[in-house]
Amino acid sequence: MKKNQKSKFAIIGYPIQHSLSPAMHNTAFKALKLPFQYSKIQLTPKQLPSFFRKLRNESYLGLNVTVPHKEAVVKFMDELSDEAKLIGAVNTIVIEDSRLKGYNTDGAGYLQSLVKETRLSLRDKRIVILGAGGAARAILASLCTQGVKQITIANRTFSRAKTLAKEFQKKFNKIQLKALPLPDDHIGSLFKETDLLINTTSAELKKMPFPPLPLNHLPRHAIVSDIIYRPKMTVLLKAAKKAGLKTHGGLGMLLYQGALAFELWTGKKAPLSAMKRALEKIV
Ligand code: ATR
Repeated sequence: MKKNQKSKFAIIGYPIQHSLSPAMHNTAFKALKLPFQYSKIQLTPKQLPSFFRKLRNESYLGLNVTVPHKEAVVKFMDELSDEAKLIGAVNTIVIEDSRLKGYNTDGAGYLQSLVKETRLSLRDKRIVILGAGGAARAILASLCTQGVKQITIANRTFSRAKTLAKEFQKKFNKIQLKALPLPDDHIGSLFKETDLLINTTSAELKKMPFPPLPLNHLPRHAIVSDIIYRPKMTVLLKAAKKAGLKTHGGLGMLLYQGALAFELWTGKKAPLSAMKRALEKIV
């Protein structure tokens, strides 16, 4: 690496102005005294091909990819990690000798946050995932490697839930994968046997929270998790807290997916506390 070269990182997405990743990563670089700079780049889907054509001549060491480009960037990669292949999407790119390797740290980041913050052991657990989009895929891929017993994917568009359950059932035949429409009258009886409920839908972000769920059917030990981090207490988490259940918010997923990306780029242990403080300051 030539001096003062290859020292740039960025996140690409559309829209991108509200991304917290620059603050988190610039704080991490500073904490470890690394001469790197992380910026945000707004790109429309149409601009992606020309961006990737020019990228190899620029001094980027790595990128993060966010909505709506995580699936679309796959075709520009020279290589994919096993997780990125399984998820079918990339959120982290490592650039080395002009070669692009795509990773996905979203699912592993979620898992680290969940386990560290709740101390939950996932073995033999029964899980309900609300949503069947990209975030659900990433989380599902990670959960499937943890020896869980059953995962039900509940989604407004039932066909998407069925397709996802079928796809992962083929790859993980020891887990029971099921699909459910959302809403559905049977969700109460399903909740009675659920250890972990995870919301991956963007309903609240779109200011369209779904109808209240019968959280009172969940057992007392159940954990309710929401990947949304703004607001910290989502409609679902507030209802769970009111029902006396343990809650898990989304900021940790952002932190740990970022820490894993940082480690892939730098080969150094991420300064987690500094990164966490940077996020908490702006959330
Ligand atoms: P992401 O990559 O963030 O997961 P996505 O692929 O657009 O985004 O998926 C969004 C998820 O939120 C989907 O499961 C979507 O349900 P549909 O498949 O029916 O579209 C879910 N979702 C979004 N708004 C919703 C709402 N108002 N009620 C219920 N589910 C909603």
